[in-house]
Amino acid sequence: MSKSPIRVTVTGAAGAIGYALLPRIASGQMFGADQPVILQLLEIPDEKAMKALSGVAMELEDCAFPLLSGMVLTSDLTTAFKDTNWALLIGSRPRGPGMERNDLIKVNGPIFVGQGRAINDHAAKDVRVAVVGNPCNTNALIAMHAAKDLPRQRFSAMTRLDQNRAQSQLAGKAGVHSSEVKNTLIWGNHSATQVPDFYNTTIRGQSASKAITDEAWLKGDFFKTVQQRGAAIIAARGASSAFSAANGLVDHVRDLVNPTPKGSWNSVCVVSDGSYGVTEGLISSFPVTTDGKGNWEIVKGLTLQPFIQEKIAATVKELESERTVVADLLK
Ligand code: NAD
Ligand code: LMR
Repeated sequence: MSKSPIRVTVTGAAGAIGYALLPRIASGQMFGADQPVILQLLEIPDEKAMKALSGVAMELEDCAFPLLSGMVLTSDLTTAFKDTNWALLIGSRPRGPGMERNDLIKVNGPIFVGQGRAINDHAAKDVRVAVVGNPCNTNALIAMHAAKDLPRQRFSAMTRLDQNRAQSQLAGKAGVHSSEVKNTLIWGNHSATQVPDFYNTTIRGQSASKAITDEAWLKGDFFKTVQQRGAAIIAARGASSAFSAANGLVDHVRDLVNPTPKGSWNSVCVVSDGSYGVTEGLISSFPVTTDGKGNWEIVKGLTLQPFIQEKIAATVKELESERTVVADLLK
């Protein structure tokens, strides 16, 4: 018997990430080749944006995707989040050259209050939320606080793009295929303070810190490249990453929906329980496993090298200061 469709809300659906993401959801790459979807597409109430969204919807129709069971195009929050099972919160302003992601906090933060409330009030009981719009950790925190009746575990933000970036960089340096780099681990904020933990990442089964003997590169160029990759793309392309971000989100959600293979993890920003020195209640990137039934856990018992510990303290400090900036949105 075929599965009944799930409802997936995508905000900012006519934007660059939305454009790259929607065909991948509708073709089954996020929720599985046997899972029909109804796409609930939110844009701002602006004639140009809604017109662009109607064009995106025409293209989706023109693909005749077997799994696409319906589409809702709206600028109304209640309609967008009605009965939704997955809310993918992308819609927000991207940064431009010379900006840090948290320069967006004042303009983007308030968006996540209204959306969090609408999810709380109108989404399906099993709703899950993934935040991409920057600064994504703090925006997820805002949405989580606004959705007062939902368990905090329902909220995540995306460092999967950073994980994928780090994996490729390590593979290039080690001269192996990226599939031979496993358990690539990002701690902290999706920002220039994020911590790509090469000690707990493996290459052909051994720590990347041993497989790559150039410690200066690991602590220097590797760190900087991963931390600054978003800015490098903006400088080169004149626009922020789009299809790699959409790809990161496909990976993020697919790996939350399916059970994590034994012995592995993925980097996901979730609410901290105080593990690894990360202040309780912040949304921070951790090594995460899932049971495929909607429950995730932070992997416990990893050893943190002093270099990594110090970097985690700095990224936590940044997350705390972002939380202070948006304190009025967390009430
Ligand atoms: P974009 O400007 O191309 O598209 C954003 C879309 O969101 C626009 O169509 C806009 O009309 C819409 N929008 C704005 N406010 C909205 C609201 N309140 N409700 C609904 N829609 C709204 O931007 P993009 O390149 O798609 O990037 C979107 C966001 O994702 C940015 O904040 C960017 O910084 C972030 N991003 C995050 C990551 C990550 O790894 N976490 C990666 C790339 C981009
Ligand atoms: C990225 O990492 O590419 C995104 O967060 C966009 C940005 O502003 O860097």
